[in-house]
Order: sequence, then C-alpha cells, then structure tokens
Amino acid sequence: MEINDRGRLALGGCDLVDLAETYDTPLYAYDEAALRAACRRYRDALAGAWDDGLVVYAAKAFLVLAMARLVAEEDLGLDVVSGGELHTALRAGFPPERIYFHGNNKAPWELAAALEHGVGRVVVDNLDELALLSKLAGGRDRPAPIALRVTPGVEADTHAHLRTGHNDSKFGLRLSTGEAYRAVELALDEPGLDLVGLHAHIGSQIMDLAPFTAAARTMVAVAAEVRRHTGWTPAELNLGGGLGVPYLPGERAPTPEDFVATVALAVGEACDGAGLPRPRLVLEPGRSIVAPAAVALYRVGAVRELNGDRVMVAVDGGMADNPRPTLYGARYQVVPAGRPRDPAAVSTTVVGRYCESGDVLARNVPLPRLQRGEVVAFLAAGAYQVAMASNYNRFPRPAVVFCCGGRSRLVQARETLDDLLARDRL
Ligand SMILES: Cc1ncc(COP(=O)(O)O)c(C=O)c1O
Repeated sequence: MEINDRGRLALGGCDLVDLAETYDTPLYAYDEAALRAACRRYRDALAGAWDDGLVVYAAKAFLVLAMARLVAEEDLGLDVVSGGELHTALRAGFPPERIYFHGNNKAPWELAAALEHGVGRVVVDNLDELALLSKLAGGRDRPAPIALRVTPGVEADTHAHLRTGHNDSKFGLRLSTGEAYRAVELALDEPGLDLVGLHAHIGSQIMDLAPFTAAARTMVAVAAEVRRHTGWTPAELNLGGGLGVPYLPGERAPTPEDFVATVALAVGEACDGAGLPRPRLVLEPGRSIVAPAAVALYRVGAVRELNGDRVMVAVDGGMADNPRPTLYGARYQVVPAGRPRDPAAVSTTVVGRYCESGDVLARNVPLPRLQRGEVVAFLAAGAYQVAMASNYNRFPRPAVVFCCGGRSRLVQARETLDDLLARDRL
C-alpha cells in the first residue's frame, strides 16, 4: 500500500482521492509499472528455470487495448477465449503467432478467425471441436498448430467455481474415459492440423503449490503414455495459470518465482524419469499479474447505523463492476483513500447500489467511521472485475486508468448514458 506525503493512498505516484475527482467513480486504477514488473518477474523466472519457455498472459483476467499493447511490449504471449478478446489483441497490434486461443465452445466464426489470422495455437477443448476445426482447417496452405486441453483429474483447493482440473469439469478432454488419447490419435491423422502439444489448467486462486506439481507430473505421464501408443511426443507442454494472490492483510501466496520453479522442477524430473525430451514449457498466469496492480475506487453514499455498533455504507458501484463477492464469496481489504492510517472504529459492511440483496462488496470489515462523499479503495482489484463488469440496472460501466510516475491516462472511458442505448432499437 503506497501512502503519499499528504498521508493519502496513492498508486503509481497518483493520489487516489485526486484520481476520483478527476475521473469520477467508480474507477479502476492500474499501476502500470507494477503490471510490467509482474510480466517481467514471470518471464525472468521461467527463463531462469527452463531452456525454452513462454509466459502467456491470460487476457480473461483483464483486457483493454492498452493492456494487450503492454503485454506485447513485455514479450509475453496472450491467451484469448473469444472472438472479442482476439479482436482486441489484433487491434492492439499483438503478434498473432504469440496468441493462444482457448475456450470450451468456440463458435465456427471464432475458429475461422483464429485460422485466418494465423494464431499461434488453437487449444482444442473437446472431440466435437476437434472435428469442427479439422473441417475448417482442411485445404488451407499450412496445417493449423494446435494443442489439446486435457483434464488431469486434479482437485485444486479453491472455490468450486474456480476448479477446472477435476474429472467432471466442463473443460478439456478426460483421461478417465480415454477421450484424451482418442483426441491425440484423431489429431495426428488430420492433415489440416499440426498437433504441437498438450495443455492443462487446474483452476484459479490456488494458494498451495502441491496441485501444480501433481498436474505437472500427471501431464508428463500422459505424454509418456501417448508416446507409447502413438509414437508422438509433445513438443510443448502448457500447464495453464491459476496462482492465487493475497486479498486480505496477513494472507500469503506463493510468489511467481516459487510457482515457476515448482512447475519446472516437477516437469523436469518427470520428463527425465520417463525418458521424455524436455518440451517447451508454457505457463498462463492471469490473476497474479493483474490483481495486485489495481484498486477499485468508490464514493460513499448512504450511511446507515445498524444495531450493535455496526455500520452499513452504500457505495456507487457494486456487483455489476465486481461480481466476485457474489459469485465466489471473495473478500477484500478496504481502505479510506483519504485517511488510510486512521484507526478502525466500527465494523462496516460495504454494499453496492444494485437491486440485489446479494450485492455486498465487503462484510463486517473494521474501518474508521466513513462519511458520505468519502472515497474508499478496494485493494487487489485488478483481476476478473473490469473483465466481468455488466450494465445491470442500466448503470454505465466504470472508467479505467493506468498510472505511472505520478501521471494517469485513461485506457477505457466511462460508459455514457447514451452508450447504454447504442444497441437498442425502437
Ligand atoms: C486456460 C486458462 N489459462 C489460464 C487461466 C488464468 O488463470 P489465473 O487468472 O488464475 O492465473 C485461466 C483462467 O481460469 C484459464 O482458463
């Protein structure tokens, strides 16, 4: 937490109360240097641990044109999951060969766009998609480079909605049914496809490294098994993202360096043990790059005293710009931006302004007595918030700024009331 010489909360050298004045609230402010530093930490850690590796930023965590540009400048790849994310990346000038196209139900037009623009990998999720892609890719000049997403059967210790590696996940080809092996055989037989590698992603906000080790070992065992059956060896192993971040004071998460070293060690040992050549190693962090780099700023409106010396304050945003508390019971550190050092005086519940009882951003957090008009900051707000924002109750979505060296720049404008009508027809 950065506190400036006025005793106020700051980010990238920008005073957060001033930012709220300049751009209005709700506002998402990202520290650009922190975003770049996080990209570099991952890149350097992987370069130090593995001969041939690529860090691919998972755009679903947060994507605007400026973010795609930043990721390209930092030499990372980009994981996209929709035609919209692909379009954003291409418009930002992102090199298509560093784009990985994911998704469990890609539409024919999205697959066609991926082929047309020559994305680096289409990560095929299921047999149905494999058939569809084979049809679309047949007859093109060069075979389309693909990876197969495998469900490794690993249960990560995170919220059920954030787990993706277990056997009844909606994502990926199952090992338990033999579907994954079948997909390898089919893909190898397809002249329009160039099967490059295997992929697994076990979930998100994972605070313990053991499931990553388990997934890495499982995937190498799968690669060895596939080689026995087909003679094909994956040139690339992509182990997804999922590293958790601390949201509350006192919470600790493994560092990106720990995560990378753990995965590299597990893959290296398992490959050596199985007599497999070491593949190119790809990792796809999203949250751990962007979450810690941003704050969400709200202005306090109605303040209500509750029984038993508790207070409820309503802010000018809520579940439409941050559905995480409602979706996953996510919790946050909340700080009054103008007086971050003031001692806590009362247990405060921060609610949003949307017409849902579940629209509670933070429950019973110790805070100074907040006043109407005051700016509050939610820390570690950079992932899966702006990206998931909606227009529920027909509120315009917030603005997004990047801050660096005491300067701020708008990277996504606040929606206007007329923007809300732009798609309506009478
Ligand atoms: C395939 C894939 N890769 C990477 C990620 C990024 O995960 P995280 O933001 O937890 O690092 C996700 C998100 O769940 C994903 O589905």
